Amino acid sequence: MEQKIQLKESDIPRQWYNLAADLPTPPLPPLGPDGNPVTPDMLTPVFPMNLIEQEVSTKRWIDIPEEVLNILYRWRPTPLRRAVNLEKHLKTPARIYYKDESVSPPGSHKPNTAVPQAWYNKQFGIQRLTTETGAGQWGSALAFACKLIGLECKVFMVRISFDQKPFRKLMMQVWGAKCIASPSTETNAGRTILAQMPDTPGSLGIAISEAIEAAVTDPTGKTRYSLGSVLNHVLLHQTIIGLEAKKQLQSVGEKLPDIVIACAGGGSNFAGLAFPFTTDKINGANIEIMPIEPTACPKMTRGPFSYDHGDTACMTPLLPMYSLGHAFVPQPIHAGGLRYHGMAPLVCQGIVEGLFKPKAYKQTKCYESAMTWTQTEGTICAPETSHAIAAVIDEAVKAREEGKKKVILFNYSGHGLMDLVGYDNYLSGKLRDIEMPEDELFKYTKDLEKFPKAPMRKTGQW
Ligand SMILES: Cc1ncc(COP(=O)(O)O)c(C=O)c1O
Repeated sequence: MEQKIQLKESDIPRQWYNLAADLPTPPLPPLGPDGNPVTPDMLTPVFPMNLIEQEVSTKRWIDIPEEVLNILYRWRPTPLRRAVNLEKHLKTPARIYYKDESVSPPGSHKPNTAVPQAWYNKQFGIQRLTTETGAGQWGSALAFACKLIGLECKVFMVRISFDQKPFRKLMMQVWGAKCIASPSTETNAGRTILAQMPDTPGSLGIAISEAIEAAVTDPTGKTRYSLGSVLNHVLLHQTIIGLEAKKQLQSVGEKLPDIVIACAGGGSNFAGLAFPFTTDKINGANIEIMPIEPTACPKMTRGPFSYDHGDTACMTPLLPMYSLGHAFVPQPIHAGGLRYHGMAPLVCQGIVEGLFKPKAYKQTKCYESAMTWTQTEGTICAPETSHAIAAVIDEAVKAREEGKKKVILFNYSGHGLMDLVGYDNYLSGKLRDIEMPEDELFKYTKDLEKFPKAPMRKTGQW
């Protein structure tokens, strides 16, 4: 039995897969301030045109440039591993496979899009990128990519993570980037929020506002903004994960998985693994596909499907998504990368269609699952990844109870070696569970009623 299923470099996928080509009901368009669909030229102050073209593309396959592949080869193809020790521990007949994205230099799936985004910006003549980061995984991935490709990089890091994870900030600095705690005094958005909430732990929504403002106000016009999740082109770049996994599963005689699981913050690692299998589901395969979120930030399981801004200061277009409201600041749970109020429109349309079934987990259950993982498989996972592991353990136990030999595939989105404070809090009994209170949900989502309605269009097939 193979525990590490490798793919040769020569077998790496050479095209990304675009789910927008195959979704039976395409996502609604993003809307501008006047309520009309956003046109590509409206996005040019923020993104380079070559990435905007990918953002709006409905082509099924998009070539990966050779120069991008040459950088991805440093750690790709990533191994597909079989969690045999966890299987034994759980006494499950399920076969549990996981894509190990923790082997990238920054330690997560994030450089799969950081590298192409930096490359396309460089091709377009851009000199500097700004971005936000929650847990620090995205910020360090973009810092790494910018250094290799020759761009400057400035990262607005959510305050609570900045304080909890000083080594992530140092990683970004070692790769030559500047990292600032958000909200900061460097932008109007940051100053306004600090005046209203001086002790705020910050949020991804706030950090996105700051990073966009810093990009669009650069008088040289040589700065653009880069987003680590949510947008179509980001999800597209991540599909290399699922495309590799498909070849690797086939190489050990597995056809398709029965269950696909990944945690979801803005939806990129989930989409990266799941989208290449979603096309099989659309074509009749019986696959359960589950994005997993924290109960502290339950947009997919409790939020309305609505138009909303992607950031707190309302600088982004209105996106059709499950959202807790752009003003919502989630409690400072340790899975910083899952503290985002919205979700990628492509993932949301899949949920509306019934193709994806989201679930929410409490943080103590996630840490308990992470401990089981570490004490069986040996590696220490990121707090975000522990959400996927909690769901995998539940599904493996269900398979045991039902006596079914299911194939479970999940995304090991990152390692947790920079996230040990969360483990410390768990081990010392300080961690508490957080559920978003009903009155808060009502308060923040009430505000969405002023936006155009987002109709829930579905074929009813799933
Ligand atoms: C390790 C890890 N997994 C998952 C996520 C969630 O992001 P996304 O939903 O874009 O994959 C993050 C975000 O920072 C992360 O660092």
